[in-house]
Amino acid sequence: MFYSETKPFPESFLWGASTSAYQVEGAWNQDGKGPSVQDLHKPEKFSDFSVASDHYHRFREDVALMKELGLKAYRFSISWSRVFPKGAGDVNPQGLQFYRDLIDELLAAGIEPVVTLYHFDLPLALHEQGGWSLRSTIDAFEAYARLMFETFRGKVKYWLTINEQNVMINHPAAMYPGNVPSQNELHQQNHHMFLASARAVKALREIDPATKIGPAPNIIAVYPKTSLPEDVIAADNWEVIRNWLYLDVAAKGYYNPLAAAYLKEKGLYPHMEEGDLELLAENTADFLGLNYYSTATVSAAKNDGHDRQPRNGDQQTMVGEEGVFRAEENDALKATEFGWKIDPVGLRTTLRRVYDRYHLPVLITENGIGGREEIAADGQVHDQYRITYLTAHFRQAQQALMDGVDLMGYCPWAFMDLVSTHQGYQKRYGFVYVDRGELDPGTMNRIRKDSFDCYHDIIKTGGCSLQEN
Ligand code: BG6
Repeated sequence: MFYSETKPFPESFLWGASTSAYQVEGAWNQDGKGPSVQDLHKPEKFSDFSVASDHYHRFREDVALMKELGLKAYRFSISWSRVFPKGAGDVNPQGLQFYRDLIDELLAAGIEPVVTLYHFDLPLALHEQGGWSLRSTIDAFEAYARLMFETFRGKVKYWLTINEQNVMINHPAAMYPGNVPSQNELHQQNHHMFLASARAVKALREIDPATKIGPAPNIIAVYPKTSLPEDVIAADNWEVIRNWLYLDVAAKGYYNPLAAAYLKEKGLYPHMEEGDLELLAENTADFLGLNYYSTATVSAAKNDGHDRQPRNGDQQTMVGEEGVFRAEENDALKATEFGWKIDPVGLRTTLRRVYDRYHLPVLITENGIGGREEIAADGQVHDQYRITYLTAHFRQAQQALMDGVDLMGYCPWAFMDLVSTHQGYQKRYGFVYVDRGELDPGTMNRIRKDSFDCYHDIIKTGGCSLQEN
């Protein structure tokens, strides 16, 4: 739909930026931090997470840059194993102090902290005991969440429970160095993560009822390859299994019926205990975080043994599933140099679908483009491709607002360069360049990229500069 005039972004709009603990902090074993599953990753060609962008030691400089950028919000995660080195039991006071200092620094800079409790970095000690396959991990998560809510009561107004639970279930390889759990185990873990989130919601309502909490899955519109009704059904299948299974539990408190039918058909429906469904029903989200990078295109499954493609999938690269859907290329869209399709209008579609289903405020918790970058001869980093990508997506977010979506804010990925989940520093995402090599930690100097200046103007003008370029 075309509108006769463009409405401005609301005054209260949370112009933000995102990171996650293990991808920026470094200091993986300092000041009492325990290891997480991510510390097991030791890629030969790419950076590991041991030093990352050294945010742990440079957070004051980084927050000063956030203030200069004009951020209204900063979405980051707490490293569970920095606070509870073994995931449960003894607290590490130095770890807790780090987050106290970070949050105080943000508040002093006038930046709203938006805090994720768990972003892919399960404490290794819990993983070794059985991780999310055990119900005791739900108890550990609740205890950790309670401590965070008590410690930051009155300071943090927005919490996110679990980052991309749907990615951890659908693309588990990046989470589990070594053996990837079976499909049955993964869906049992999924159920336990749902319960853990519901327990956190319940705890927050007791401890700090004015504060808001929601999930942060990776949500994308799924398109049928053609108008063939069978392609449309396949798109529905994948949209339900990939998106609505997760958001229906978080927002409505129940398992989506089609997702449940799929899980039962595949023998993957999790074991549930008495009271589980009531817990989910009674503790739903206040708002929905969503990470958006691309859309997916699919065609009908043929159930002939070839629906699943023999290729490596990732968050945005689908492989298909026997009897459910086939993954297709969308020839209408260009792709990033890492092969993710670029679809700004897909963001508008995704926001409209989500809001239409749930009628809850939505916060974009991630969106961005990763590419190879280096410092130019003039000492600057020229990332016009990121400006093009983000301004196109911001404009579509504005259209979604005009469509009636209650969009609270937008936190692009990422505030600064960080270790990508699969390609280290080859794939940079930040508004701020971090001067380090793949394996060599370099100077770690921070350099404002061209996109930093562009985003600064967008925030300063409340989005009005989007109309100018
Ligand atoms: C999201 C994750 O899936 O995508 C982030 O929440 C991740 O942790 C981001 O970094 C970009 O993906 P990648 O694989 O390019 O780092």
